[in-house]
Amino acid sequence: MSSFLLMLLLSHCAALPFHNMDFLDFMMEDEAGSGVTDSISNTVPIFHHLAEEPTCPFRCQCHGTVTQCSDLGLEIVPAEISADTTWLDLQNNKITEIKENDFKNLKRLHLLILVNNLITTIHPKAFVPLGQLERLYLSKNLLKEMPVNIPKSLQELRIHENKITKIKKSSFQGMTEVIVMELGSNPLTSSGIDSGTFAELKKVSYIRIADTNLTEIPKGLPSSLSELHLDGNKISKVHADSLKGLVNLTKFGLSHNEISVVENDTLAMVPFLHELHLDDNFLTKVPPGLSDHKNIKVIYLHSNKITMVGTDDFCPLNYNAKKATYSAISLFNNPVHYWEVQPLTFRCVYDRSVIQFGNYRKK
Ligand SMILES: *[C@@H]1O[C@H](CO)[C@@H](O)[C@H](O)[C@H]1NC(C)=O
Ligand SMILES: *[C@@H]1O[C@H](CO)[C@@H](O)[C@H](O)[C@H]1NC(C)=O
Ligand SMILES: *[C@@H]1O[C@H](CO)[C@@H](O)[C@H](O)[C@H]1NC(C)=O
Repeated sequence: MSSFLLMLLLSHCAALPFHNMDFLDFMMEDEAGSGVTDSISNTVPIFHHLAEEPTCPFRCQCHGTVTQCSDLGLEIVPAEISADTTWLDLQNNKITEIKENDFKNLKRLHLLILVNNLITTIHPKAFVPLGQLERLYLSKNLLKEMPVNIPKSLQELRIHENKITKIKKSSFQGMTEVIVMELGSNPLTSSGIDSGTFAELKKVSYIRIADTNLTEIPKGLPSSLSELHLDGNKISKVHADSLKGLVNLTKFGLSHNEISVVENDTLAMVPFLHELHLDDNFLTKVPPGLSDHKNIKVIYLHSNKITMVGTDDFCPLNYNAKKATYSAISLFNNPVHYWEVQPLTFRCVYDRSVIQFGNYRKK
């Protein structure tokens, strides 16, 4: 009986391919009476197959391939996110956990925003399906560890304001496409970061590890680096060696540390540096090498313990030496007074307003 019905249905189906709805109607009527249809519907998928519409999770907003589910009080990642989604925004929710299959179908996802949730755990396989992910924003969560199996396609990782204490070398293995890495405001210490951790990031241009408990500049930074922001740490000494090979470094932030020593050859290691922030440290003198440096334009030294400024601290001895013009030098809030500094000291500075120093301090 069952197989007879199946044959009947299949033959009709072949004859009238554009009238599937009729068959569905027929099935529904039959279902009520005979009880044979369960096995039929399992073997003939055509009867319950309708063209797949892109789905949008309840209360989310979907526009094209963007799925927007922020600020909804969600406690879990919604099911039924369309497989076409390229941007998924889940920020400002109450998600506590990322489960193995939460992103299972999202093979086309480029951007995943999970900022400002309550995430404590991420399943080790959760990110595996995201073979095209370029940007992953996990800041402002409760993660204690770096997620594992982050897709190798990733270009930008933002994971600041979490509870991460350790970064293992394996965390960034093979992540050769990363350009931006933001790790600030985590309870990181220098001993918590494996040496060579960043070496794999061969294209990285921006690294920020501000407001942590680093006591040293991480070693083995990639030579592609153009901006390094290590403000708000507990670094006490700038070792020239730690900047070795950073030929592309243009901006270096070390404000609000405990730096009392900048080694002699430090600036020579970074010939293209434009901007150096050393304000709010424990320096007792102007760091060496500024007068010989060809490209430095901005140097912040305010709020240190500088007691003396020498006439050759900023400008080359030789008037004809090629040197970029300074656009900002800050020296206020140091024990040295501006009237104790010889005007000759700033002979290579052509605009007085560039110097922020006691009475010269810019508003
Ligand atoms: C750094 O260490 C201090 C003292 O151990 C701690 O109070 C502080 O929260 C730490 N900072 C961060 C960003 O974890
Ligand atoms: C430095 O930057 C230039 C221009 O962005 C790039 O072509 C070059 O490969 C970089 N050097 C290194 C060592 O990454
Ligand atoms: C750094 O350079 C200054 C001036 O040339 C020199 O007096 C000093 O001894 C040097 N310091 C070290 C540790 O080499």
